[in-house]
Parts: sequence; C-alpha cells; structure tokens
Amino acid sequence: MLPTQSEGPGSFAQFDLHRVPSPSYVVDQEKIRSNLQILRDIGDRSGAKILIALKAFSMWALSDLIQEYLDGCCSSGLWEARLAREKGFAEKSRSRILSTFSPAYRSGEIHVISSLSDHLIFNHPDSFGIDIAKNSGVSIGLRINPELSLGLDPKYDPCAENSRLGFPLSQLSQDVLSEFDGLHFHTLCEQNFSPLHQTWQRVEEKLGDYLHHFSWINLGGGHHCTRKDYDRESLISLIAEIIDKYDVQVFLEPGEAVALDAGILVGEVVDIMSAAQHHALLDLSATCHAPDVIEAPYRPALLGEADGGEYTYHMGGSSCLTADSFGEYRFDEKLRIGDRVAFLDQAHYTMVKTNTFNGVPLPSLYLWNSKTNELSLIKKFGYEEFVNRLS
Ligand SMILES: Cc1ncc(COP(=O)(O)O)c(C=O)c1O
Repeated sequence: MLPTQSEGPGSFAQFDLHRVPSPSYVVDQEKIRSNLQILRDIGDRSGAKILIALKAFSMWALSDLIQEYLDGCCSSGLWEARLAREKGFAEKSRSRILSTFSPAYRSGEIHVISSLSDHLIFNHPDSFGIDIAKNSGVSIGLRINPELSLGLDPKYDPCAENSRLGFPLSQLSQDVLSEFDGLHFHTLCEQNFSPLHQTWQRVEEKLGDYLHHFSWINLGGGHHCTRKDYDRESLISLIAEIIDKYDVQVFLEPGEAVALDAGILVGEVVDIMSAAQHHALLDLSATCHAPDVIEAPYRPALLGEADGGEYTYHMGGSSCLTADSFGEYRFDEKLRIGDRVAFLDQAHYTMVKTNTFNGVPLPSLYLWNSKTNELSLIKKFGYEEFVNRLS
C-alpha cells in the first residue's frame, strides 16, 4: 500500500461540500496557480523548460492559466497531441513546446504526430517511424533506461527488470546516439531530488562527454517539486550545472506536481450497512473515479477524518467489484445517510482515468477559486456518455 502524498485539505477545509452536486470533482485554481508559481520559479532560476504532462492532468478549462507559467506540454500520443494543439496547451505557453513520447507509434498516425510535435521521442533506436519523423523535420529524441531502480514499487518503476520503457543504458553506443537530437529518461514517481541526482550521475558516468552532442535533455516527470519537503535548491543547481556543462536545453515534464493537492472528489453516503463491520456505501466508486486507489494501491486522505475517532467505517464504492473500496476511516461522529464526504488530492490521474463501469455516473467538474470563493460548473455528464460508448 503506497502512502497518500496529500499534505492536508489546505483551503478545502473551508469549502462547503453542499455547494456542488454529488459526485463532483472540485479543482481549486488558486492552488494550481501556486503550484505553477513554484514550477515557474524552478524554470526561471535553473534555466529548465517546464512542460505539463497531460496524461496526469489535462483539464483544458485551465489551459490559459497553466500556460501563463509553463513552457508547453508533453503528450503520450496522437490524441493528447491533438488536445494540446486544439486547447492551447502548447500555443499559448511561454516556449510553445509540444513533446510526444509513446512506447510505439502506429503507421497510420506517425505523420500527423510528427507534424503536431516539436520533439518526438522514441523508445528504442530501431523504433518504427524514426525515418518518417526525421524527414518531417521534428526534433527526435531517444528514451533511455538508466537501469537504476531506486526503491520504487516495480509497478511504477520503468527501470524494473525486463522493462519495455526506454533503451537500456548499458547497450547504448555512440553510433546509436548520434542519430538523435535529444535524450530522454523518466524513472521517478512521486520522488524527491536525491533519486534524480543518482540517476543523472549514472547517465553522466556512462555517456560522459557524449552528452555535448545533444541539443536537449529531458529529465521526465515524477519530480514532486511542489511538495513542501522537496529539495528545490538542489534541483535548480543540478539543472543549471547540466545546462552550463553540456550547453543543452533541459526539460522537465511533471504531471502530479502541477495539480498536487489542488482537487477533491466529493461524494455522498447513500446507505450504511452494519454487519461484521460498518460500511458507508457511497455514490463514488474507487474503480470508476479514483482508479489508482485500487491500482497502486493507496488509501486517499479524507476531509475531516479523525485519527483516533470512535467510529470506523469502510468507505465502499458503488460498483460490483468486491475491491471497490476507498479504505477504512475513523470519525468522531456516526455517519448518516446524506452526509457529504471528500477525498483529498484527487485532481491528478483521476479525471483522465474515469470510466462508467456498472453504469456508475461520472462526477461533474467544478472550478473553485479559494481566494474569491467563486465556484463554476465546467461540465456535467449524463446517461449519454455511458450509452454512446457502448453502441
Ligand atoms: C514519460 C512520462 N513523462 C512524464 C510523466 C509524468 O509523471 P508525474 O505525473 O509523476 O510527474 C509520466 C508519468 O507516467 C511519464 O510516463
């Protein structure tokens, strides 16, 4: 079980959960802004270009705000690249960069992806599409696997044994590298500075002076640099040193760090079942609305949970999956039907992953400004979303 990374409710402690229908995601644009300010500061002081990873958070109602601060975005393939172009994630940004990485590209889409992207990153030196990309003029990069596992769950470790993500560092030759303009590695997940530093040392030790050949080096995502305890000064020094030493552009592509602690998932207790244990049955579903709860797995923090509280409930999801549960929580008061609940830190890797398994409705999307208390409905979903995907 992974720990939650939430640092607490922040401004959501003041949010009245009855202001939105249940279920809803509520995103605080001021918290997004303060995360972006931290990222901008890292970019300004280190010289790095900072891209948002759309796979983690791509709420395009906020693309203007996001790109006021960032240098562009990274996409995982054709549809995210299209989204980036259509919704302004790249165009309106400070450096207008769209970088795409996919483990493999399909023949029918490589031309379009090449024309949409500024950087196109390949998973191995013989990847399908390299020649097509070269002819299109896009700047091409190679994702490498530094082969250094730093204490991660293998499920989230691209350096795990037999990983399909990135070409092994030990098998690289200068001939291979000379085909590429850029180098990319992504090995971290919710981590502080030290694993990045160790990974960089491994890459530098192996590639040495050859790093001068590249015009850009992309250090991937997984940097939890908007978290309070992140060692930002060391990150800034390392990036500045890389730029200075190798005369390259350095890119970071964080996802979670943009939206950390910026959203809640609001639900309602629709029934209570007391048998061997107390189950609070919610109109939320972990498997539909917060799939990482089951996939990781992890136990999300809950607004108002009380560590030593007298009453314990299993917060159960509304699908038929036995494991559809958010976990066990303690409260000072008994729960009642109609009570509102809110899971914390639910902006990233949730909206991008939702589904309607069991016909469970999708949560509405709300934007809240914690400074002005203004609340706006961005979108609500109905039966149509469910039925149209099943025809
Ligand atoms: C290639 C790549 N870049 C960036 C990211 C974003 O990582 P995070 O959201 O952990 O910062 C991911 C996440 O899986 C990724 O695979």
